[in-house]
Amino acid sequence: MEKTAATAIAHPNIAFIKYWGNRDPELRLPANGSLSMNLGGLLTRTRVWFDPTLAQDEIWLNSQPLEGAARERVVRFLDLVRGLAGRTLAAHVESENNFPAGAGLASSAAAFAALALASTAALGLRLDEAALSRLARRGSGSAARSVPAGFVEWQPGRGDADSYAFSIAPPEHWPLVDCVAIVESAHKAIGSSQGHLLAATSPLQAARVADAPRRLRIARQAIWRRDFEALAEIAEQDSMMLHAVMLTSQPPLIYWRGVSVELMHAVASWRREGIAAFYTLDAGPNVHVICLPEHAESIQRRLRDFPGVREVIVAQVGGPARLVEGQG
Ligand code: DP6
Repeated sequence: MEKTAATAIAHPNIAFIKYWGNRDPELRLPANGSLSMNLGGLLTRTRVWFDPTLAQDEIWLNSQPLEGAARERVVRFLDLVRGLAGRTLAAHVESENNFPAGAGLASSAAAFAALALASTAALGLRLDEAALSRLARRGSGSAARSVPAGFVEWQPGRGDADSYAFSIAPPEHWPLVDCVAIVESAHKAIGSSQGHLLAATSPLQAARVADAPRRLRIARQAIWRRDFEALAEIAEQDSMMLHAVMLTSQPPLIYWRGVSVELMHAVASWRREGIAAFYTLDAGPNVHVICLPEHAESIQRRLRDFPGVREVIVAQVGGPARLVEGQG
């Protein structure tokens, strides 16, 4: 087989209804459905080729060779792709993020969505969107949601076959803006993959999971109706429920810093002033402030002036994972 290459890009995403805990960690079958928006403007670009002259996979991230557990995770994912294609060739992978490394923005979603698309295309496989989302899910759960465009829901499914994400509205449906207040750039002590394993140790996780269909229904309808206040209320409640589970896990996961809490208070008071903005936090201290485009300038200014905020990264609603070159 001659050397074939493919390049794909994918955006990270921010969840309004969060994924936390797996029914099956190996298959990454989530405890509950989740809903997110892709972050346009931020992207991972990944080029892959399978090369008969390589003895083992070569994986580069932001011009550095990947090593240790991070490399193993990608190799295991490539093994899945090789299995699908019935091939055994080693791969060369080069991946770059256009958002600052170490800004604490989760990059595994964009990384595995781009890798799923580039690696299957490089082997001549043409997966439909659901199959690609299922495959990306095996690398990182939230990567399932970076495959489709715009506003995306990941249905938990009964098993591997129906646990995938689909678009519930295209990017142009509602021009929301995410202003991410970066409060800390250090790598998190406990990453999401370990965090998911602790979810079930919190007595609050069962209640969070049982209530997820209600939150999903409200968030979905708020997006369809472009009802900002309804989305704000349910997304903030969902973020608080995620952190309630984290804080009550054994051992507890305390991702917030003091400034994260100050920012939550501030955003809530800005909304009372009439500024359409709400907060949501993932497995880290950075605060995502989602707002309407007419308030984006004012939110950015307020966040940049906020004591303890190091940087503000701005994203609009993003498109799907896509190939940027054919094979060659
Ligand atoms: C808090 O998808 O990063 O951001 O499947 O282990 O890669 P892995 O976990 P990951 O978990 C995301 C957790 C979250 C919430 C969310 O994005 O839904």
